[in-house]
Amino acid sequence: MTQQILQSSEMTWDQDYESRINPELMTSLLRSSIPVLEQSDWKVTKVEDGYCETMLPLNKATTNQHGTHQAALVSLSADYTGGLALATLLRGVPLAGIHQCRDDVSASLWLAGMNVRYKSPSTGHLTGICEIDPVQADEIKKRYFRGSRVLATLQVRFYSNGELTAEAEMKYFAQPTIQLTPTIENPSRSTLFSHKLKASARMIAGLRAQRSCHPKLISHCPHANLVAGPHGELLANHLHEILPQLKDMVLTRSQHIDELIRQVPDLKQVVLAGAGLDMRSIRHAADLPDVTFFEVDLPEMIAERERVTKLLPQEFSDRRVLLSANFKVDDLAQVIGQHPRFDSAVPTVIIFEGCSMYFSEIENQKIFRSFLELIDNPLSCVWADFVNTSVVTGRTNNLRIKGFLEGMDSLGEAFIFGTDDPTHWFESLGYSFVETISAGEYLNENDAVLNTYSFSVAKR
Ligand SMILES: C[S@@+](CC[C@H](N)C(=O)[O-])C[C@H]1O[C@@H](n2cnc3c(N)ncnc32)[C@H](O)[C@@H]1O
Repeated sequence: MTQQILQSSEMTWDQDYESRINPELMTSLLRSSIPVLEQSDWKVTKVEDGYCETMLPLNKATTNQHGTHQAALVSLSADYTGGLALATLLRGVPLAGIHQCRDDVSASLWLAGMNVRYKSPSTGHLTGICEIDPVQADEIKKRYFRGSRVLATLQVRFYSNGELTAEAEMKYFAQPTIQLTPTIENPSRSTLFSHKLKASARMIAGLRAQRSCHPKLISHCPHANLVAGPHGELLANHLHEILPQLKDMVLTRSQHIDELIRQVPDLKQVVLAGAGLDMRSIRHAADLPDVTFFEVDLPEMIAERERVTKLLPQEFSDRRVLLSANFKVDDLAQVIGQHPRFDSAVPTVIIFEGCSMYFSEIENQKIFRSFLELIDNPLSCVWADFVNTSVVTGRTNNLRIKGFLEGMDSLGEAFIFGTDDPTHWFESLGYSFVETISAGEYLNENDAVLNTYSFSVAKR
């Protein structure tokens, strides 16, 4: 369940309570993001400015062999009780991963450390209480709203049958999410940013590891399972539950690229721009002995690629060139074009797969103009996928697409760009020969979701 979050510096506590942080809403949002809270029937029972009260029931899921609460679940409850008390102070600010929101408006909260003292076994429903001292609360608000990172130590107390059963000292960080994203001025990255980046690439690899029932989808990547790991598998299953077409969308685009690569005569170079954890370079290396693969991504992802490709039976490292670049800052025509092994005069395929939706229109224009400088040979082309504008602007009435976009938002990977006419969009950038097909057309399926997603092949 999501609700429109009001955002205003003038917002009253009552408005904030109603739209963002009331106990029913927070119970439902937290339970859907953290399934163990649902399974244990944990709930938020009271929220005030600087205050949170929660309840961990004594039930089969929460107890141990003695019939008292499992210690780790008390700690879990402490985490969310203190975190929510802290969140009450960030008036009007949605929480990344919990509320449906974009990075430029949300706050990221994370636990830095905890110390829990268990005083006596809890033999009744467990009430957790975090009350932030008004002086400390003021300090936290001031720091957060002037744009500084907050490190707050909060006390959470637990009572069962009217008796104090545990006390926890919780240390949290809180920071505007946008500050965790690297910029031109501040290129350093946070652990959280790096985590989100890996999460979405692993999720795609997790989908690519699966097989489709669709008779037209036969391509398969034998390495995807390994590189996705359990994290990718978990996220893929979660998002596939929300949007069942997602797996076929990823497998279709992957197969469409396979077909393109096989069709380009005398192919010499393949560029994976925003390579993520796509293992096609290794998958194609043996069949395409004359091709050099350029794999370009942010440094964290390149490091992750290096880590996971070492786990594969063959790395083909002499045929692969790994390049770190930030597409928002760096000029790809230079990063790739000036590499001694790259030659813009030979037949080349540049693949920008599953990426255009995460960059603004202006950023995309810059990226695709750079690609154009890299494809001097008439056989060379750029492959890219696009979602329709309705998917991005939220004008879609399709509840499954809405659910999927909410899922992507909570992964911290909101879609921000789409176009209804990729062919025309390419042409406006100076490309001359463009072919576009929707995933629905490719699969011969008249499906509302598949029809919002298309692939283009563009030449100069
Ligand atoms: C959804 S993943 C798709 C990965 C891959 N193409 C695939 O289909 O499996 C998006 C990729 O874009 C990369 N990316 C995001 N922001 C970037 C940036 N500013 N510069 C370079 N790469 C970026 C991410 O690291 C990630 O690998």
